[in-house]
Amino acid sequence: MGRRGYLAGPNKPEGFVVQLRVVSDQPWEVPADLLAIPFVGEPQFDGLLGTLDQRAGGELVALAGFGELKSERYAAALLPGGECRAHRLLAVSAGASDSLTRQVVVRIGSAIARRVADRKVRTLAIWLADLGDRLEGGAEAAAELLARGVVEGQFDPATLYHTADAGSEPSSLTELIIVAPGADVAALTRAAERGIVIGEGANLARGLANRAANDVTPEVLAQEARAIAERHGLSIDVLGPSEAAELGMGMFLAVGRGSDNPPRMIVLRSGEAGATDAAGRRLALVGKGVCFDSGGISIKPADRMEEMKMDKTGACTVIAAIATVARLAPGTPLMAIAPAVENMPGPHSTRPGDVVRAMNGKTVDILNTDAEGRLILGDAMVYAEKLGATHLVDIATLTGAVARMLGDQMTGAFGTPQSWYDQVAAAGARAGERYWQLPMIEEYRKEMDSWYADFTNTGPAEGGLIRSALFLREFATVPWVHLDIAGTAYFRKKTAYAPSGATGVAHATLVELALSGATKS
Ligand code: BES
Ligand code: MN
Ligand code: ZN
Repeated sequence: MGRRGYLAGPNKPEGFVVQLRVVSDQPWEVPADLLAIPFVGEPQFDGLLGTLDQRAGGELVALAGFGELKSERYAAALLPGGECRAHRLLAVSAGASDSLTRQVVVRIGSAIARRVADRKVRTLAIWLADLGDRLEGGAEAAAELLARGVVEGQFDPATLYHTADAGSEPSSLTELIIVAPGADVAALTRAAERGIVIGEGANLARGLANRAANDVTPEVLAQEARAIAERHGLSIDVLGPSEAAELGMGMFLAVGRGSDNPPRMIVLRSGEAGATDAAGRRLALVGKGVCFDSGGISIKPADRMEEMKMDKTGACTVIAAIATVARLAPGTPLMAIAPAVENMPGPHSTRPGDVVRAMNGKTVDILNTDAEGRLILGDAMVYAEKLGATHLVDIATLTGAVARMLGDQMTGAFGTPQSWYDQVAAAGARAGERYWQLPMIEEYRKEMDSWYADFTNTGPAEGGLIRSALFLREFATVPWVHLDIAGTAYFRKKTAYAPSGATGVAHATLVELALSGATKS
């Protein structure tokens, strides 16, 4: 199977939406193949919505009377355009008004794009309706989040490996029109453009994460990172096993040694060397890049092992995030570090009970070779600090436990000090993503005591999620946050707003966080 070219076509990293236009006209005056109308709560047919309904021959009121508009969130009903200049209308339910969040607005955009995919829609108009009134940040926030959602909703994993006749039709969308009567068109255009760039970055991460392990090895991930660095003017260094050995990355090397595909430590940087960002930080994003996690000698059961090609999602996310930041605020001081390995069993593999020395000198008794993420992340975090990082965020598909606890809708998070956690959480809130902070319970640390090394890499199952963070904490001496995306990184089933596969989770959060340190232009 060839190794290049999968990003061609609709999932190419940039240019999902060929053109963006923001118009301040009345919704019925906008020519388009389709005009989408988000409904929040019980629709009120006074004002613009009443006029639009008249133009549509009363069909919207009829639909509401029929009970259709208060149906499930993201449900959408198609109507003829009547006297509107759009040929068709799409009424989309945004659910109850008291539960409208920024995430819901993104997902409305995605649900609209998914509903019109495979249809003959070249120009898609979306009326902001009253979304802007209900969000902090107003119409600008609504335009950004909707546009981002449309781009994310166009992501189609079927174009990755399906042969041409078996895959679904490529999207025919060429123009997105945001309709905001009376709005500041220039400001909304900037906001929607920002949303498009962030959506494209999420899709870049998803396109990489979805790729099979025989396609994306650590070296191929490094090559992809090189191509991305070149496109966006980032500097890149890729360390192989000998450089890693010289630096003392014993944990990273211990995981990678079981595979014929050698490990790669991928380091992307933007901004002047040594410079701090506007928030006074040198932020490093560290992403787990296990291209395949068989478990190693502590091998996993066969059931769902194929999902472990997604174990590189953290790496794909930080690589995409630094590229997105470079597009939105070039020159922002930022680092993305992606330790990439394949965790395989074999004659060279690390054995349970092997003892290794981490880059910070601590010794680790590897009791379970399937707790590999924390090993590669620990060395990557130490390296990030050596390169000057003053603040760390790591992102990893780290534990099955977090998926069992929080499912696929909420990311588990840890951090210290609390003030740094709060800043990351605030970026997450702006990005419309959900995090649940978990405690680092000190008592659980003692169950990682080892009889002959500084500590083990696992302990009893009870409290194992907490212990995964306590382990990582051993490798941070600066403010640090850990995001465990094992539950949220990919969907097993499609929804109205996303296909199955990589979700792009946390990309927008990391971008928001990094941009909070960008100099305002
Ligand atoms: N990559 C897995 C975690 C995972 C599980 C991600 C399910 C996505 C879906 C990780 O490397 C792992 O194997 N974790 C072990 C840790 C245990 C051995 C302490 C786990 O969660 O079982
Ligand atoms: Mn594992
Ligand atoms: Zn893993």
